[in-house]
Amino acid sequence: MDNKTAVDTRAEILSMIPEYFSKSFPKRDFIPGRDSVPASGKVFDEEDMKSLIDASLDFWLTSGRFAEDFEMEFAKFLGAKHAFLVNSGSSANLLALSCLTSRTLGERALCPGDEVITVAAGFPTTVNPIYQYGLVPVYVDVELGTYNASIEGIKSALSAKTKAIFMAHTLGNPFDAKNISDFAKEKGIWLIEDCCDALGSELGGKKAGTFGDLSTFSFYPAHHITMGEGGAVLTNSPGLAVLVQSFRDWGRDCQCAPGQDNRCGLRFSQKFGELPEGYDHKYVYSEIGYNLKLTDMQAAVGLSQLKKLDGFIARRRENFAYLYEKLSSLEGKILLPKAMPNSTPSWFGFPIGIAHSVGVNRENLLRFLDSRKIGTRLLFGGNLTRQPAYIGRDHRIVGKLKNTDYVMNNVFWVGVYPGLSKEMLDYIVSSITTGLNNEMTVAR
Ligand SMILES: Cc1ncc(COP(=O)(O)O)c(C=O)c1O
Repeated sequence: MDNKTAVDTRAEILSMIPEYFSKSFPKRDFIPGRDSVPASGKVFDEEDMKSLIDASLDFWLTSGRFAEDFEMEFAKFLGAKHAFLVNSGSSANLLALSCLTSRTLGERALCPGDEVITVAAGFPTTVNPIYQYGLVPVYVDVELGTYNASIEGIKSALSAKTKAIFMAHTLGNPFDAKNISDFAKEKGIWLIEDCCDALGSELGGKKAGTFGDLSTFSFYPAHHITMGEGGAVLTNSPGLAVLVQSFRDWGRDCQCAPGQDNRCGLRFSQKFGELPEGYDHKYVYSEIGYNLKLTDMQAAVGLSQLKKLDGFIARRRENFAYLYEKLSSLEGKILLPKAMPNSTPSWFGFPIGIAHSVGVNRENLLRFLDSRKIGTRLLFGGNLTRQPAYIGRDHRIVGKLKNTDYVMNNVFWVGVYPGLSKEMLDYIVSSITTGLNNEMTVAR
């Protein structure tokens, strides 16, 4: 008779994964032209798969022990006090901004009509929450090469209605976070750092995501670590941490974890709003919230990925440096990326601007690279104010978005993610060189 316990069977299931993994995901040699060179992608191993299966065997399903461990480890990695997992980077952005609308923040609460300084050369869901809450985005131009707004640009956007600054460290290149956060503190306005593309980036030895009041991260497969779908909000402020948790968890007042009851010991003995005395604290809502939690299976993959994060970041930096060196000979024809002074970016991609003088049409060049199976990406929405969803909506533009339009017309990026080998990077370089000299790519 089989007298194995559940623990034995679980260990047996997990022990089968390495074999399954090596059979399902065998390593292949790269053949230029046959194999694709993605701009980004997940890098995973049998340990990630084991962690995923381990969590699924718990069958807890919602956020649980893996999520709790991840939040602790992630906060430690960044040197922040509080981390909250959510189901995407976009949800993290929505959550970070929404908690600043809490009435508990008094005069500093964001109200419809208030202004939020941001950039238009970026990803839509950094600015979408601004529109969704009836706030007014104030767009400033970015600098060429860094693709970030400068402190001078931010200062020039300030008005009596400014309540927050919310922008991303573009492609992992830190914006001037120290000066911008000092400015925000001086003016009593909030700073939210979108670090979805900048996990591990540093400025003056301090991690991106620890300068602002709140910061956000994405764990979509393209990003530095993945959970499939996932994101996080970070803060050092105990007060904001309470709000982040509440807005994430339905807006409720109670801070019990999923499956937990009566953590405060006052579940049936408090009075809230106009509710009857002793109304179950689990069902008291102090904010207009959401449910943005993720599953424990996602968190389990993230927890295992986190162990490899330092190595992933190192590879991204190495790949970036390699491309930079090889592409330097094209300077003049292309605009190379510029790291923020005093920063060590954890690059998301390698941005390239096509110089006007070469007369090369970007779309033709991207088509050429695509024909060689080289993945390219644009700097997201280019100039968001020119995207169909944003035209005609209330916003303010400071000066002219000249460089933002340059980004929209001339910039693209190629990959630096850890899955790219030297052979692949060489193929990217030789293809860009050929493409720039190719008749077919010339603008007509
Ligand atoms: C700067 C930035 N912010 C937010 C997001 C949204 O993250 P997610 O895809 O996890 O929703 C992305 C996505 O790549 C991004 O690049």
